[in-house]
Amino acid sequence: MQQINIINAKDHVDEKVKIGVWLTNKRSSGKIAFLQLRDGTAFFQGVVLKNNVSEEVFETAKELRQETSMWITGVIHEDSRSKFGYEIAVETIEVVGESEDYPITPKEHGIDFLLDHRHLWLRSSRPHATMVIRNEVIRATYEFFNKEGFTKIDAPILTGSAPEGTTDLFHTEYFDRDAYLSQSGQLYEEAGAMAFDKVFSFGPTFRAEKSKTRRHLIEFWMIEPEMAFMHQEQSLEVQEQYIAFLVQNVIDHCKDALDTLGRDVETLKRYTQLPYPRISYDEAVEMLKENDFDVDWGVDFGSPAETFLADHFSQPVFVLNYPKSIKPFYMKPHPTRKDVVICADLLAPEGYGEIIGGSERATDYNYLYDQIIKAGLDPKEYGWYLDLRKYGSVPHSGFGLGLERALTWITGEDHVRETIPFPRLLNRIYP
Ligand code: 4AD
Repeated sequence: MQQINIINAKDHVDEKVKIGVWLTNKRSSGKIAFLQLRDGTAFFQGVVLKNNVSEEVFETAKELRQETSMWITGVIHEDSRSKFGYEIAVETIEVVGESEDYPITPKEHGIDFLLDHRHLWLRSSRPHATMVIRNEVIRATYEFFNKEGFTKIDAPILTGSAPEGTTDLFHTEYFDRDAYLSQSGQLYEEAGAMAFDKVFSFGPTFRAEKSKTRRHLIEFWMIEPEMAFMHQEQSLEVQEQYIAFLVQNVIDHCKDALDTLGRDVETLKRYTQLPYPRISYDEAVEMLKENDFDVDWGVDFGSPAETFLADHFSQPVFVLNYPKSIKPFYMKPHPTRKDVVICADLLAPEGYGEIIGGSERATDYNYLYDQIIKAGLDPKEYGWYLDLRKYGSVPHSGFGLGLERALTWITGEDHVRETIPFPRLLNRIYP
């Protein structure tokens, strides 16, 4: 008898199979027991008919507790009434691990309770569906950048540099000196681009931000491509093609997961249509003012303003060329305006806000040296970075996609914490 996974049930209709499963829920009457089962790949139903199995099997089925693990054998049938489309007519049950009273029951639980039990909650259908989509987005990311000729260059996690400013650094000791957990791999990717032309990194990044919003994690994963001999306009094209590719792959490969989450596929399809609109920061400020937002030129947009801008276009929208004063030191200055830099944020619609931040990078040694000093950073720590401008400096551009921000938008979840297996939040490092 073949051992299979539930996800492959469709290939084994009318066959007798063996599956290792956990019980998620159960209903039974005098003659029949319905077992809701999961094996990590999918969820489906097992039907135990008293008349078809031994008395011992039927009694075992009736007594099973939630999350008991077991081997079952039985025949797969099509079941057009169920969401999954297949079920198993159970013949034997062999309990592998008994379960104590399981804390997460089918009733509603509060969010703190669920976060305290995240190690168990991951087994439930909603977080499971979200992680399936996370996995697909990561897979499609590697596919996209490989097909576009990028080389993956891993950036260090322990570092002496602070590309995104010193206010939210995680400090640590590195033997007899100070170090930080990486806020961004970008500076290292710039070195990579000078050696490999087009590179990307994918790794955890850390921001000790005291923000308690639905968009902020303390530890999040970032995808950071960097491209040599490339100006910002070409980088925007790579960005929108990448996002459309991710959305299309999720639509193509994660139908059941989207269905579990109640995410409308027609809405997602709209996001595969390119190009995405582009507006300048100046235009965005004007639009916001005309719509009664209290914004002045020179400030960063809050989340209601970002929501308004992207919803206005019903598409992700690039906002270009922000004020220099609110952006990091490494961005290329605008050729004709002193007050703005060549950069763009990509804002996702439906209230999800910024999912990408990117820019063309400053190429001039002296300019960059000055910016490092003005940012209050120690130029000695950036000697290696400045070297990139000494030995054949070229125009180059790159960007960072916050994986969890993008996933929150793609899945339609309402908090970024749902999209990472074990979220690190302002007051949470357990489990
Ligand atoms: O805009 P950020 O800070 O840009 C950088 O770090 C650049 N060095 C990237 C680059 O050009 N290589 O962050 C990039 C993205 C944001 O658009 C957002 O999606 C995500 O990272 N992000 C966060 N996600 C979750 N929690 C947080 N606290 C985040 N901060 C940024």
